[in-house]
Amino acid sequence: MSRQTRIKKAVFPVAGMGTRFLPATKSIPKELLPLVDRPLIQYAIDEARAAGIDEFIFVTARGKTALEDYLDHAPHLAETLRRDNKTSLLAELENTRMPSGSTAYARQGEPRGLGHAVWCARHLIGDEPFAVILPDDVIAGAVPCLKQMVDAYQTCGGNLVAAMEVAPEEVGSYGILETTHRNGPLCTVSGMVEKPSPKTAPSNLAVVGRYILDAAVLNHLARKQVGAGGEIQLTDAIAAEIGKSGVHGFRFAGQRFDCGSKAGFLRATVAYALARPDLRDDFRQCLDGAMHVRVAAE
Ligand code: G1P
Repeated sequence: MSRQTRIKKAVFPVAGMGTRFLPATKSIPKELLPLVDRPLIQYAIDEARAAGIDEFIFVTARGKTALEDYLDHAPHLAETLRRDNKTSLLAELENTRMPSGSTAYARQGEPRGLGHAVWCARHLIGDEPFAVILPDDVIAGAVPCLKQMVDAYQTCGGNLVAAMEVAPEEVGSYGILETTHRNGPLCTVSGMVEKPSPKTAPSNLAVVGRYILDAAVLNHLARKQVGAGGEIQLTDAIAAEIGKSGVHGFRFAGQRFDCGSKAGFLRATVAYALARPDLRDDFRQCLDGAMHVRVAAE
């Protein structure tokens, strides 16, 4: 590609019921659960902003209005913090402020899978390439993952999916790539399969929740073909572009936390707390001490 293609839009599929985090998610959207003191969705938004995204499309569902409120302006709260001279809290609040008109919502009326969720945003996406971020996958890195991908996309175009090696027994939880040429972090994808059995998986190179996609993927999703788990899979629609606009895998630099699982969420909490200058020392002491306390439930 000779000229830069700007990726302006990112889709955040946030319609899931978050049943793995019940009872907390009975009334709180999973994406608002805090990783230290910032909701999961904030990490995803910050990563998108760092990649130059300025249109944010959320695919929501019933029970997610708290998410829309979180993303709204909070003038009353800001005024109170200003009056009380709480400058650093005010700065935190300002950092989360989305410019007016930069957020848009599509509803996924029924839970028919990730591919269906992205398809629900088709009118907001239009016909330009777009990013997809799954907020459950939190990725820490010196350069935010989506920014790395937007830069790599300038050389490969087509469709780009974030990828990492996973343990062979875990391939059944991911979209798995079959690849040919490798060029640094980029590899050419020759096959993709959603949640294969470890016996038939083409590799252990898994897709993680960052994508830059050609709008042609939406046409495949429109066919509403049902795939693994009886759901409309994004993986299948991307795979249909192999040999057309093309698909690449991108081995990003950084550490990925699976915040869709309790253990992954806890691991991320420890890692992000230890990375915070204001918490690090106290928290390290807590962790050292924790080896000697009885677990809370005992
Ligand atoms: C989704 C995708 C899968 C991908 C995974 C990454 O699966 O369908 O291809 O590997 O995210 O987290 P889910 O975790 O929603 O089952």
